[in-house]
Amino acid sequence: MSQPSLRHFIAEDDLTRDEFIALIENAIELKASWKRGEIRDTLRNRTMAMIFEKASTRTRTSFEAGMVQLGGHALNLTPTDSQLGRGEPIEDTSRVLSEMVDVAMLRTHSHETIEHFASVSSIPVINGLTDKLHPCQLLADMQTFFEVRGNIAGATIAWLGAGNTNMCNSFINTAKLLDFKLNIACPPDLAPDDALLGACASNAELIDDVTAACENVDVVVTDVWASMGQEEETMQLNSLLSPYQVNDQIMSCAGKDAIFMHCLPAHRGEEVTASVIDGPQSVVWQEAGNRLHAQKALLEMLVA
Ligand code: CP
Ligand code: NVA
Repeated sequence: MSQPSLRHFIAEDDLTRDEFIALIENAIELKASWKRGEIRDTLRNRTMAMIFEKASTRTRTSFEAGMVQLGGHALNLTPTDSQLGRGEPIEDTSRVLSEMVDVAMLRTHSHETIEHFASVSSIPVINGLTDKLHPCQLLADMQTFFEVRGNIAGATIAWLGAGNTNMCNSFINTAKLLDFKLNIACPPDLAPDDALLGACASNAELIDDVTAACENVDVVVTDVWASMGQEEETMQLNSLLSPYQVNDQIMSCAGKDAIFMHCLPAHRGEEVTASVIDGPQSVVWQEAGNRLHAQKALLEMLVA
């Protein structure tokens, strides 16, 4: 089925602030409606193709379940069992999928791959994580904050960990879009890209001292120290990042009302202690569950 107006979701700012907030509001409503047992079929007879170049638990499950819950269907193409693994160009794959399905979701190593795919696509393309950004995670994270604390404008989030990764980049983009403050505590060698930080300077800043970065913040957030694709650098990253672990001392600096977020998967004892991720300030299960509802709202916005 052709789309009346083609939209992609490759970066957070593919949505305006108003659209982002409207999407979160719809996600909260879709969650309540699903929990009431209501049947919804806004994507009846629609198909999503998913391409995963890397592992996934949450992204794959939430998109597949989400399509079913909206009356549609999702299919999974891994490079090893599709012609992508035998060298078919990504642009050709994109053109073919545009003839057959209604929306495509890609998790790729390189951000350029999804951009190439989208450049020839006539169906909406969704970024399910690249080396540069993870915007679907930010939809769920923002939904979670709105549920727990209300509008995020004016709030402060502390990011502890590598500053040059997909998750930190997505938090920087979203800080600007939704107007919250992001304190980034990271090793100097793993600082965010200057251009990105410069473009978001009113909302995101580097704070050298970990304790100062966390003082009285609303949220403390972190991510694995070695992202997918960085396995060979694990030892070096672990040693650079060990001073940035989120532990009880950090959470007490943040204050008792602060919440802890993590996109998962988590490594207890590395970027976060078990006492924090399994403790009373952690909202990680609600956050993970919101992937389902936020992405259903995204699918309705792009496809229905
Ligand atoms: N947070 C996240 O994207 O999880 P998966 O890698 O399991 O999809
Ligand atoms: N930064 C992590 C996020 C996993 C959801 C990675 O890219 O592996």
